[in-house]
Amino acid sequence: MIQIEHVNKVYKTGDVETAALKDINLTIQDGAFVVILGPSGSGKSTLLNVISGLDTVTSGKITFDDTVLTDLSPEQMTTFRREHLGFIFQQYNLLQNLTVHENVQIGADLTKDPLPIDELLEQVGLSTSHDKYPYQLSGGEQQRVSVARSLAKNPAIVFCDEPTGSLDEDNSKKVLELLERLNEAYHKTVVVITHNTGISEMADDVIKMNSGRIVELTHNETRIAARDIPWG
Ligand SMILES: Nc1ncnc2c1ncn2[C@@H]1O[C@H](COP(=O)(O)OP(=O)(O)O)[C@@H](O)[C@H]1O
Ligand SMILES: [Mg+2]
Repeated sequence: MIQIEHVNKVYKTGDVETAALKDINLTIQDGAFVVILGPSGSGKSTLLNVISGLDTVTSGKITFDDTVLTDLSPEQMTTFRREHLGFIFQQYNLLQNLTVHENVQIGADLTKDPLPIDELLEQVGLSTSHDKYPYQLSGGEQQRVSVARSLAKNPAIVFCDEPTGSLDEDNSKKVLELLERLNEAYHKTVVVITHNTGISEMADDVIKMNSGRIVELTHNETRIAARDIPWG
């Protein structure tokens, strides 16, 4: 479980201060599928970055099970992130001079207890593409490689910042189905930032943000399958 208590984040650029997060209070349950919605600039990425330790808070407390993340040193946070957290971004961030298999190997190398790469590639539908390079793949296929890479270290929680932001409907749904399976079959906690309100229908919990605040928290009693969500 992740607990976020009275978290504030202020960015300072020269004389300009931007309050990107204002008194955020939130609990993310183990195994939940959480969607964060909100207009551009509302603080979604900042929230994800401070929860996952990619950025520091200005004030407030974040706890992950028994670990107070906001008390960790930068080195301790890096180790924690490497061992427990997976990331998927809008940009696939694959290394262009490495093959599909080698890119996923990078994820596996981050941990003592990685998942088998061949199985992961089969799950993301790329078992015939082991030896291809990123430029030989479509955007959707590249994003599925980055999903496999983030899963290789068997993270407890996967953070996704606009994972379908560069994909068409068909490829988006393939990536969302992977996240859904990860959540349902492997009980991983999944946190997804999106602009697409349709995606919120596959979530347990929907967090709406505006101007650095949580303006609405909704719980869906029933979830819609990724393949059935309305698009556009
Ligand atoms: N590194 C940064 N330095 C200064 N301001 C930032 C930085 N990152 C984000 N901001 C500002 O914080 C606010 C929230 O940004 P962000 O979390 O990226 O929003 P979203 O992901 O919802 O589009 C915006 O006003 C943005 O300009
Ligand atoms: Mg963002």
